[in-house]
Amino acid sequence: MKWRSENKMQIVLSAKTIIVLGTILSIVAIVNSGFKISHDISINESANNAVSMDSIASVKAFEKVYKVLMSPRCMNCHPAGDIPLQGDDNHLHSMFPKRGEDGKGIYAMKCQNCHQSANLSGLHTPPGNPNWHLPPAEMRMVFQGRTARQLAKQLVDQKQNGHKNMKQLIDHASDGLVRSAWNPGEGRTTPPMSHDDFKKAWVEWIQKGAYAPK
Ligand code: HEC
Ligand code: HEC
Repeated sequence: MKWRSENKMQIVLSAKTIIVLGTILSIVAIVNSGFKISHDISINESANNAVSMDSIASVKAFEKVYKVLMSPRCMNCHPAGDIPLQGDDNHLHSMFPKRGEDGKGIYAMKCQNCHQSANLSGLHTPPGNPNWHLPPAEMRMVFQGRTARQLAKQLVDQKQNGHKNMKQLIDHASDGLVRSAWNPGEGRTTPPMSHDDFKKAWVEWIQKGAYAPK
């Protein structure tokens, strides 16, 4: 009887030990994950996705990305001012439609009054997309005039990129407005490489660490 109850004690004790250990482990896990979240998101999340952190390959990939970002099909919607740009020479949009709070224009000059959900045929007709607008006033996402270094830093800064984390940023390569640059409507040039090549460079830049050129 005595032996049995001692044995029972031991069993109870070791069960307690397991519970205590388990609790410690889960606290460690929780603290750890909290710590991760508070880390610099660009380093942390790209590390999770990383093929490898490689500053040289990352910067090289961004050189390609930058050529596309600065091409007229992209830059015309990412102007330094509040009026969109037109043409391969990035001149101010005729009739000067303004950004407005939500990027969709103001009063009678709403983008969607002229920009339909698909391209119209003919030269100098407005390109179409169901979501055609500029970035909003409180998050202007300016490309025009930015150096490669400035733009690389801006793109991964969640305070400037529309609160996108690394995964959302990667996904943005397939966004409808981004893809529309390769279907620009009659008479307009496309960006300097295919969408596939752009996407490859974009993902590589991010996954290898999202480094900014010097
Ligand atoms: C019709 C206008 C329009 C065109 C054309 C356009 N964009 Fe944008 N872009 C936007 C709007 C609006 C947003 C903000 C909405 C969002 O974040 O989803 C945005 C956001 C972005 C962002 C995320 C914000 C940031 O700065 O990190 C990137 C990257 C981007 N665009 C890249 C491009 C590229 C590359 C092209 C050309 C291949 C392009 N855009 C063409 C309107 C446009
Ligand atoms: C009154 C009609 C009208 C309104 C309103 C309008 N647009 Fe346009 N937009 C046009 C026309 C027409 C073109 C084509 C001009 C050409 O090709 O010569 C054009 C072209 C553009 C281009 C150039 C596309 C490229 O790839 O070069 C951008 C960018 C653009 N519009 C953005 C906007 C945005 C953003 C708004 C709202 C803030 C807007 N537009 C409001 C008529 C309009």
